[in-house]
Amino acid sequence: MREDAVLEAQNLVKTYGKGDSLFTALGGIDLTIRQGEKVAIIGKSGSGKSTLMHLLALLDKPTSGAVFVEGQDAAKLKNGQLGHLRGQKFGFVFQQFFLNGHASVLENVILPLKIAGVGRAERKRRALEALKQVELDDKAKNKAKDLSGGQKQRVVIARAIVGNPSVIFADEPTGNLDTATGQRIEDLLFSLNANQGITLIVVTHDADLAARCDRQIHIQDGRIVDHPEPPAATREPKAPEPAPDQPDAPQPPRRPTPRPRRKVHL
Ligand SMILES: Nc1ncnc2c1ncn2[C@@H]1O[C@H](COP(=O)(O)OP(=O)(O)OP(=O)(O)O)[C@@H](O)[C@H]1O
Ligand SMILES: [Mg+2]
Repeated sequence: MREDAVLEAQNLVKTYGKGDSLFTALGGIDLTIRQGEKVAIIGKSGSGKSTLMHLLALLDKPTSGAVFVEGQDAAKLKNGQLGHLRGQKFGFVFQQFFLNGHASVLENVILPLKIAGVGRAERKRRALEALKQVELDDKAKNKAKDLSGGQKQRVVIARAIVGNPSVIFADEPTGNLDTATGQRIEDLLFSLNANQGITLIVVTHDADLAARCDRQIHIQDGRIVDHPEPPAATREPKAPEPAPDQPDAPQPPRRPTPRPRRKVHL
């Protein structure tokens, strides 16, 4: 276990079904994520990205293998303790907003604090503070269902940060949004990382979003692969590498970010 590891997965296996219908969604994942890192999990649909994220976030249990959160073996915790750890350390931003549309924006953001047993006045103060961070404090009293898609996702981010988490798990956080709105959500997530040191773990099909992370973890058929085969449509000639005896050789210029956004591994 590394000292600065916030999450560590050891030989994680997840199977569904049994007998003839046994399916191995994750076939043995080893992974260490350090505090403050930005990590993209990428791969084709059905490759196991969400399954991995759910296991890392303690939302589901592995068939075998272990998840350590800041050195603590999750398997050693009872369900109540797991829930407590999750509430204390993690925030969630998923593609489907999972907001209660009929409750107010403020009530939606307050919810995790209510579950954590934070007092009434304190939780309102903190929820308004989180809404201010996503520039939605003026919508606190609106019903969540009346907001635009981008605003809903900002409420989700406010709800994710209200508990002051170490890690934000985002599964396709911009998947339902137009490019400009998605960009704003992306910037917001990255600013939380830059300003508050929150670790970001992002599942995405968006190559530009993945490229903004410190590293990309490619999942293929439930395993991490170092050199995934790129889809034929996006295969490009490789830029020449500097010769090994010329470490300071000039790097090829970075290509400008293409528009429209590229999708990977669809
Ligand atoms: N509860 C379940 N029962 C049976 N199979 C499941 C279950 N959940 C996931 N799977 C299977 O496990 C595999 C991995 O699913 P997962 O949701 O992790 O994929 P993903 O990489 O997130 O895909 P996508 O990009 O489409 O979201 C898929 O083949 C899926 O059908
Ligand atoms: Mg998924």
